[in-house]
Amino acid sequence: MKSIYLTGFMGAGKTTIGQALATNLSLDVVDTDTLIEQNMKLQIKDIFEQYGESFFRELETKTLQELPVNDTLVTTGGGIVTTQNNIDWMKENGCMIFLYADPEVIWERLENDTTRPLIKQKKKEEIIELFDTRLPLYKQAHITVDTTGLDLESAAEAVHNAI
Ligand code: S3P
Repeated sequence: MKSIYLTGFMGAGKTTIGQALATNLSLDVVDTDTLIEQNMKLQIKDIFEQYGESFFRELETKTLQELPVNDTLVTTGGGIVTTQNNIDWMKENGCMIFLYADPEVIWERLENDTTRPLIKQKKKEEIIELFDTRLPLYKQAHITVDTTGLDLESAAEAVHNAI
């Protein structure tokens, strides 16, 4: 089976839904942010702080494109789609899924988050603006699943049914 790439905005539930889905499909699951943190021995926010966002984006692209293209469920960082080549790569090598969640719901989840460098000190309007800017990028996915209002298990099931 070709690999599955779960994409979506921060707070859309990619990691948690991905883990449940991988169990249901008996696939290995890997998370690009976790791999980057392990390789760099640094947290994402410290990579942004010490090396800047463009360095992080290069690591993200390299990490994604070195992963197996079969039998793997890959959960990605929300900004992976800001590199168009990553979108093209995911679509060519596997099934790209966009986990949509209503931006209001996303904001409620992210409001007090201190681990994500792009959220820290941002106002709600700024986050919604970023969401809107990225929406056309996510929408290039093969499949879009709206997880708004769904619990973890139902969301994983909705993605399973959509594949
Ligand atoms: C980012 C999303 C984060 C992480 C980094 C940048 C983004 O991942 O990769 O903080 O640009 O949207 P999550 O989507 O898992 O929070």
